[in-house]
Amino acid sequence: MRVATTRGTFEVHDESRDARGAPLVLVHGFPFDAGSWSADGAALAPRVRVIAPSMRGFGGSVAFEDVPAPSIDTMADDVAAVLDALALTEPVVLGGLSMGGYVALAFARRHGHRLRGLVLADTRAEPDSDEARANRDHGIARVLGGDLAGLVDALLPKILSPKTLAAQPAVVESVRAMALRAHPQAVAQALRAMRDRPDARPGLAAIAVPVLVVVGADDVLIPPAASEALASGLANARLQIIESAGHMSNLEQPAAFRAALAAFVAAL
Ligand code: MLT
Repeated sequence: MRVATTRGTFEVHDESRDARGAPLVLVHGFPFDAGSWSADGAALAPRVRVIAPSMRGFGGSVAFEDVPAPSIDTMADDVAAVLDALALTEPVVLGGLSMGGYVALAFARRHGHRLRGLVLADTRAEPDSDEARANRDHGIARVLGGDLAGLVDALLPKILSPKTLAAQPAVVESVRAMALRAHPQAVAQALRAMRDRPDARPGLAAIAVPVLVVVGADDVLIPPAASEALASGLANARLQIIESAGHMSNLEQPAAFRAALAAFVAAL
C-alpha cells in the first residue's frame, strides 16, 4: 500500500495489523525493494505484524525533492516518517539486510528510543574501504550509462551462494528480476549513499536493545567473520549463521532465516 508521509509517499508492505507484540519493520538491501520481504511477511503473519517499506526511489516509493543527495541517514529518517504516518508510537523491532542494515544502524543512532530490538542481517558497521568506494563510483557510472543489467549480472555471483546458483534457479531468477526493476537513478543514489556512509562502530556501544546478527555462511560480500566482529561489538547480541546461504540469506534459505527471526521476536 502507499503511505503518505511528511517526506514523500512510500510503498509499504504491512502484514497482519492485528498481530500482538512489537511490530517487525524490515528494510531491504541493494538494489531491491520491499518485495524482498514479501514471503517472510506472509509466513510470519498472523503472529507478527511485519512492515516493509521500499526505500526512496525503489519499489514505487517517491520522496519529495527536499534532499539533493540522500544519505543512509536520510533513509533512516524516511523509515521513522513511515512509522509516524502509520501512527506507530510503540517501539518496534527493526531489521535490515545489508544496505538495510546500514539504515537500521543509522536509525538506532538517530531514533534509538523507538527500538525494541534490532536484526542486522548480512551487514556491517565499518564504512567502505577506498577500494569499495572506487567500485561504487564505477557502478554509478555503469548504471547511469545505461547498463543496469551488466551491474546486476556482475552482482549475482557475489550475493548468492554457489549452492543457490546451482540448485535454486527460481530464486536466482526472482532476485535478478527484482534488481532489474530498480530505477537507475535510485540505484546510483543508493550507491552514493552507501559509499559515503559513516563508520557506525562508534555508535554500537550505545545500542542497549537485544540484537540478532544473521549472516549466510557463504556470504562473500560481508563474510561471517565480519558478522562475528559486529556481534562482539554489541552489548546484547546473538549471532546466527545460516547454512547454504550467501548474502541474500532470507531469500536463499527462507525457513532457517524466518525461524531465527521468529524466535528472536518471540523472546523479546
Ligand atoms: C546490499 O546487499 O545491500 C549491498 O550489497 C550492500 C553493499 O554493497 O555494501
